[in-house]
Amino acid sequence: MKTVLTYGTFDLFHLGHVRLLRRLAALGDELIVGCSTDEFNHLKNKKSAMSFEHRMEILEACRYVTKVIPERDWDQKQIDIERENVDIFGMGDDWKGKFDHLKEFCEVVYLPRTEDISTSLLVNEIKSLQR
Ligand code: CTP
Repeated sequence: MKTVLTYGTFDLFHLGHVRLLRRLAALGDELIVGCSTDEFNHLKNKKSAMSFEHRMEILEACRYVTKVIPERDWDQKQIDIERENVDIFGMGDDWKGKFDHLKEFCEVVYLPRTEDISTSLLVNEIKSLQR
């Protein structure tokens, strides 16, 4: 039984998110997603269009996701890895190298991002539709 863990905001859930979650799920038997709370996003100076509750509900409806947990701060990853018996920690490669310190506790992988899509790009596209 292999457990995979990832984190993110997952605002305006899009194809890049689907593809990342699909590839992460394929690495193990269970995929746990840590969804950034609105308070944590505020700390990161990040604003989301959708509330934490809505982003979490959408993630829970994704067939590749076993369970969603709140991501409240930078330092919870090690605790989550131990509590959930995580085997693989995975993120998109925009985070490459950033979580190598977790290699002490589990395998760490960075997967290539899907090109030409992101929440920020979607926000800009929606804005341009309204002009
Ligand atoms: N991700 C991906 N491919 C994309 C966009 C995101 O693989 N095209 C991955 C990220 O690397 C991360 C996860 O999805 O591991 C959650 O990313 P998130 O920051 O929520 O989404 P972005 O679209 O990157 O949001 P933003 O534009 O606000 O940075």
